[in-house]
Amino acid sequence: MNAERIEEFLSAVKSAFAGNTLIKLRLSGYHGAEADLKSIDVKKIVAKGSEKFSFTFHYKTRDIIKNHIQPEALGHLRTALRHEFRSAQLATSEFDLSFERNGDKVRLKRTEIAGREAPSTEHNRAKNRPLTETDKPYLQALGISGKDGQVRNDAQDKFRQINKMVEIFAPLIQAIKADKPVIVDMGAGKGYLDFALYDYLANVAKRPAEVIGVEMRGKLVEDGNATAAASGFSDLRFVPGTILDYDAAGADAVIALHACDTATDDAIFRGISAGASLIAVAPCCHKQIRRQMEAGRPAPQLDVLLRHGIFLERQAEMVTDALRALLLELSGYRTKVFEFVSDAHTPKNNLIVAEKDGRAGRDRDAVLKQIVEVKAMFGVEKHYLEGLLGL
Ligand SMILES: C[S@@+](CC[C@H](N)C(=O)[O-])C[C@H]1O[C@@H](n2cnc3c(N)ncnc32)[C@H](O)[C@@H]1O
Repeated sequence: MNAERIEEFLSAVKSAFAGNTLIKLRLSGYHGAEADLKSIDVKKIVAKGSEKFSFTFHYKTRDIIKNHIQPEALGHLRTALRHEFRSAQLATSEFDLSFERNGDKVRLKRTEIAGREAPSTEHNRAKNRPLTETDKPYLQALGISGKDGQVRNDAQDKFRQINKMVEIFAPLIQAIKADKPVIVDMGAGKGYLDFALYDYLANVAKRPAEVIGVEMRGKLVEDGNATAAASGFSDLRFVPGTILDYDAAGADAVIALHACDTATDDAIFRGISAGASLIAVAPCCHKQIRRQMEAGRPAPQLDVLLRHGIFLERQAEMVTDALRALLLELSGYRTKVFEFVSDAHTPKNNLIVAEKDGRAGRDRDAVLKQIVEVKAMFGVEKHYLEGLLGL
């Protein structure tokens, strides 16, 4: 066994971590026991003042992130390289190192790299935020920056959050094949995301988009349009009305962040009807499925969970979102669910991201069967979104 080669690879990972030169480590060629695990990406983060390895486990339809301190992380990597993954690619700012295992034989290949930028961690993240200019009319109108153009002390957290949103959404929008994608944000509220995303795409990424915020509260629509005009954001507008009444035809992306209760389903439905390439929703509270689970007959094996109110509530939320994800798959979307902000900000921090992918529609019968099974297991009669989709 090439144990020394594995240790040599781990030692390179350890040095890159210590020297802040680790850009990314990817493990692929999985042949272990976990169903649907495809690959793992590993990077360095600094969370609450402590340095950690952040592992993103990529499964077929979801990502899971786990952070580990160094000794733990190296232990997991050792096991993974010995028994579970055939390939690994370490990228640092100085060299790339590839690892290939074939049975007991391990091959390492090192390529020196010049001029690659050193990676950033949470340490120096502030410098690397997508939105660095803070003297903007919209940031003042939203109460994030003060009159001096600086982010207010009490709005640092909000500014961090909107930057995080831009970090998540901008690449998804930029991946859309349209010269000037049309993004519809359902239940836009004050439009934090819309202003930030518009500003970033138009002024930083130079990949402009048309952004439309749909909101039923007229005052927010008025304020949003006034601020868009004052900012010179000519392709950002807010329209009054309900999500369900808004015909999103022509939208490339339909987004909804914390649209209350079934308004999230209205947004998904509008996105599917429009044939949007991207649908991304961060659901809010949703009571319909919980009521059905309480009134219905979930499988008796679930009693142990469902008899506790708090578990029932969480389980109902998961079933609600799992069915949303399946219904999106049924409609021809490749779907992932992941945490998009820390749960320190909000417990409603799941993001369902669905990208249109004709191939997904091919598994229709299998997906329909899963929907029927999940509903039967949890005693659910009908998801509100099923009704909208005419199922
Ligand atoms: C919790 S706020 C979130 C606002 C914004 N998306 C954000 O994340 O900052 C939900 C917003 O959706 C709006 N809303 C809820 N249901 C709606 C519906 N059916 N049609 C239009 N707007 C709706 C509410 O008025 C509210 O402004």
